[in-house]
Parts: sequence; C-alpha cells; structure tokens
Amino acid sequence: MKAKYTLPRGTYDILPQESWKWKIIKTAFQKTASLFSYQEIVTPIFEQAALFERSVGDTSDIIQKEMYKFEDKKGRQFALRPEGTASVVRSVVEHNLLQQEQQQKLYYMGPMFRYDRPQKGRYRQFYQYGIELLGSNHPYYDAEVVAFADLFLRKLGLRNFQLEINSIGCNNCSQDFDKALIEYFLPHEKLLCQDCRLRLNKNPKRILDCKVPSCKKIAQEAPSMLDYLDSECATHFKKVQEYLNTLEIPYIVNPKIVRGLDYYTQTAFEFTDSNLGAQSTLIGGGRYNKLVSELGGKDVAGIGFAGGFERLLLSLESEKLLSREAYDLDIFVVIAGENLELHAIELIHFLRKNSFSTDFAFEKKSVRAQMKAADKSNAKYVLLLGEEELKEDKIVVRKLQSGVQTTLAKNNLISFLRNDESR
Ligand code: HAM
Repeated sequence: MKAKYTLPRGTYDILPQESWKWKIIKTAFQKTASLFSYQEIVTPIFEQAALFERSVGDTSDIIQKEMYKFEDKKGRQFALRPEGTASVVRSVVEHNLLQQEQQQKLYYMGPMFRYDRPQKGRYRQFYQYGIELLGSNHPYYDAEVVAFADLFLRKLGLRNFQLEINSIGCNNCSQDFDKALIEYFLPHEKLLCQDCRLRLNKNPKRILDCKVPSCKKIAQEAPSMLDYLDSECATHFKKVQEYLNTLEIPYIVNPKIVRGLDYYTQTAFEFTDSNLGAQSTLIGGGRYNKLVSELGGKDVAGIGFAGGFERLLLSLESEKLLSREAYDLDIFVVIAGENLELHAIELIHFLRKNSFSTDFAFEKKSVRAQMKAADKSNAKYVLLLGEEELKEDKIVVRKLQSGVQTTLAKNNLISFLRNDESR
C-alpha cells in the first residue's frame, strides 16, 4: 500500500532496526564529555531569527539561503536553529552562567535545520553533537577542544580521518588580509562564481573555501592568512600547535580553512574523512572571541566544535566499525500450558524489578510461536514455565544460542542469572 503521507525532502526516519547505531554514537559522545568534564545543555529548537542573523552572519550561506525562518501568530520572526553555538551562547548570557562560574564547558546533541540541496551526508534536518567552552582564551583550551573531538572519533574506532587547522586571526589582522585578498581576486572577478563575486566585497575570505572548481583554481595562489597574523594571533597559533604536539594529535596546517560562519576568530579546524565524497567534513569548529559580547554578554572568549551524526555513521559503516550488542534482551519468557499467563506476568514483573530486561509474547498461545518470537528477540535466555515446573516451584533456563538448559529452583533464579559468568 502506498503511504498517503511521506517524509519532507531532506529528512529521514531513524527506524528501530537502525536506532541502535545512533545510540552507540550518543553513548560515546556522552562518555567523552564526562572524561573532559562537560555538562549537558539543552536549548529550544527555534529561536529569534535575529540571534542567528547576528551571530552566524548575514554574508554566510546559512543566513543568505538556508534558514527556515517563519513568522509566529503575533508576527514575530523566528527560525529553526541552523546550528547550536548561537543558542548556547544566548542561553549562557541570558542566565548569567559566567557570573556563577568563570568557565562553562557545555555539550549538546540534537536536530538542526538548513534548507540546502539534499545529497549524501547533507540533509535539511540533521543531527549534531557539539561542545562549547566559554570563558578562556588560553591556547591550551584550543588544543583540549580538538583533543576532545579526536578522542571521540578514536573511541568509536575511527583512524582514517585528517585534522586540519588554521588561524583566521582577529579583526585587527583581518583588515589587511581582506584588502590583500580583494587586490588578488579583483583581476579574476569575471572567472569567479556568482556567490564569490558577492563575497569579494562583503567577505573575501569565504572565496578561499568555495567548492566551485574555477574558484578553487584561482584561490590556489591567493595570499595566506598566516602571513597576516598580528603577533598576538601568531603566538596563540604557535602555542596551540605546541599543545597539540604534546598531546600527540596529528594535524596539518591548512591556511585555506576559513569555515562558513562569520563568528570565528583565530583557531579554526576541521576533521575530514576523504572517503565521504563531497560532504567530507565530519567535525568543524573554532574560536569565537567576540560572540559572547556581540550577543550582549561580557567580553569573554569561546571555542567549540560540532559534527553531524549522519556523516559519522557513513564513516563508521564504511569502516565496518558498528556492531550491535551481542544481545538485545536478557530474558524471553515462554509458557507451556493452559492458565499460566498470570504466573508469567508475575515472573516478568519480578525479573524487570530485578533489572533484567524481559519480554513475553502475550498473545501467542503455542510454544512454537513463542519460541519463534524468542529467537527474533535476540534474548540471551529463555525461561520456560510449564505445569510440571510450576508445581515444584522450578523453572527451566535455556541459553538461546547454545540451547544448553538447566532446571532451577525459582528461589535461585536471580542469583543464577547474576552469577552466570558470561552475562
Ligand atoms: P558547521 O561547520 O556549520 O559548524 O557544521 C558542523 C558539522 O555539522 C559539519 O561538519 C557536518 O558534519 C554537520 N553538518 C552541517 N550541515 C549539515 C547538513 N546539512 N547535513 C548533515 N550534516 C551537516 C557549526 O555548526 C558550528 N556551530 C560548529 C561550532 C561549534 N563552532 C564552534 N562551536
């Protein structure tokens, strides 16, 4: 039967047979967050549109063409969040969190929305994991934030990724660099794509990471930001590299990394997996030392990163790094005999109260049909309850995979299950 209603373009469902893969990523991210002492923050999926316009920047693709903006019933402009950093900073400023603690180390996970042309690894609703560290401009933290991303990917088993870093300087160094870029690109203006021609006046750095082949070719010989860093930014960048060396994190310096959002200052970085094709950036991040004050807070520095679940899954799948846990369920209860249902219900509830995940095919009467359901459930044990066993207060415990079974006194069931070595 053809479904009457279908998914919006660029979105997808995470079906039960796939959701375990998402859980692996979520768990690994949460574990890494606790290793680095980050706390979770949850913000709304929609915010005032002006928040993103101000922070992500009017010349960015996100604001120019990708934001899901809407008017509410009172004519106020809202937007589905295209990213998490602006919302986190808004929340930290609004709740004065930096007054309570001078540093905030926060992590988040959730859906983001960008109206872009969908393709492999690019969706209109996608899921990001990310962190933000607010309250320090020390270069050690640039390295620590990168180390977080690196350890997270490694914990999942990935090895074939590259880390590229750059410094895009501060407002002070940007001015001369922008001038140099305009001078360099102006004679080639006609050969640039339409977007880059606009960028030339508004934000020439963005031409450096344009993916259009003709722009890429022209950009090859463009001036390098690293030659325009003032002494403070140059020292900062050098220190970041020293810390990364100490942490033994491999990286390459790529002066073409500029990132697509306007709030960045100084360190910018990307983790890429070249096997992913056009959408190869697993994680992108950087420092944003002016964002907190631009959003009404104190003059406080910040740094963070975010990555998409979808691309990470593609990477993990292509390297065959995802394996389901051996068992989905501890116990499946099967009854053989009339009128045993109530005993089964009692037993199931007892097992659940003792923290064993348990299921039962309530509406299947025959043992055969119940055993089929047990097989499908991928449980570790089947508990068989028959009239005979019930009379003697016993129960049969069968290991589903090997078929090996023992009959136990019901009183000993929990201690048997707890002590069974291979659990
Ligand atoms: P971003 O580079 O726009 O940065 O996105 C970060 C990551 O989100 C990308 O590297 C990619 O893995 C994923 N992503 C972005 N757009 C899509 C899409 N349409 N479909 C699937 N995945 C996507 C930010 O969002 C910044 N807020 C990162 C940050 C945090 N910088 C500092 N703190």
